[in-house]
Amino acid sequence: MKQAPDEPAAWKELAHSGRVAFLGDDPHAAQVHGIAPGCIQPLALLARLDWDRAYKTPYEVACIESAGALAAKGHKAARSAFVEGASELEIHHAYLEAVGCVDKDLPYETIVCLDEKGAILHYTGKRAQKHGKVLLIDAGAKVNGYGSDITRTWTTAKADAPFMELVNGLDRVQQELCALVSPGKPYLELHHAAHLKIADLLHGAGLIQKGGAEAVELGLTHPFFPHGLGHFLGIQVHDVGGRQKSPDGGLLAPPPQYPYLRTTRAIEIDQVFTIEPGIYFIEMLLRPHRAGKTKEHFDWAKIDRLMPCGGIRIEDDVVVTRDGHRNLTRPHVG
Ligand code: GLY
Ligand code: MN
Repeated sequence: MKQAPDEPAAWKELAHSGRVAFLGDDPHAAQVHGIAPGCIQPLALLARLDWDRAYKTPYEVACIESAGALAAKGHKAARSAFVEGASELEIHHAYLEAVGCVDKDLPYETIVCLDEKGAILHYTGKRAQKHGKVLLIDAGAKVNGYGSDITRTWTTAKADAPFMELVNGLDRVQQELCALVSPGKPYLELHHAAHLKIADLLHGAGLIQKGGAEAVELGLTHPFFPHGLGHFLGIQVHDVGGRQKSPDGGLLAPPPQYPYLRTTRAIEIDQVFTIEPGIYFIEMLLRPHRAGKTKEHFDWAKIDRLMPCGGIRIEDDVVVTRDGHRNLTRPHVG
């Protein structure tokens, strides 16, 4: 068997061969080991690896699905704690206890929001409130380094009936969007479809006066759904390569109307990404419309009634298959 080049001379020769590259957090260490400067963090190699990381092997998909099954235990416990009137912090602890880990083992900090806190997209604040009527929980788990990323929105019987209808409506929209996943389609098309469906949902609920394409063109859905529909998922929660143009690199920037979309690449078999539409009541984003040209397209009384409910997000992880997709989350989390 060939020996690893542990001899300093052999290592030196290999380091200088041009066949060794260093990728990592400490380029100085690579220099110390004699790796040529052009082979430290070479962009062409990074681009190639980032591109290919979008296609998950069956092993990687199994890890992400197991991470979903593990997170499901946490989501179930969190929901029970919420129904019993627990505080955001207690819900977080119930989640950790059920998953069987500590904070640092999670793929990202849990986002546990009661009521109006659901409108703060990455809320990880004080967590003191209890007895909420609405719980938005965004939390995952890790298996062999791979993460799941799952969001659910639950309500108690005391929540506003129109809000509960919106939750059910967005859940339906989320599953319809999952059903639209198919190889060859640009992810952007899915994101646009989300805006159209959310427009119809808001219109049906009487919150805006127009539906479909007309509402989207007028920008009426943007204050309610200000983030991208989803992102690649893997070792990193927002996995790499979502906006990459080709295996050689380059940027496929999102269009100006959807600046926060992280995934602009075409959908292809074996990619794993999230589908996470949302509807939020964020005063900062609604305010410009209250006085602007579009103000008559909104029913402000109905909107103001729902402001204390915060927001809704439903998020699943899916793998793209030849015929469409397989949902890695739904079999485990209701
Ligand atoms: N779950 C966190 C995020 O997608 O940003
Ligand atoms: Mn996500």
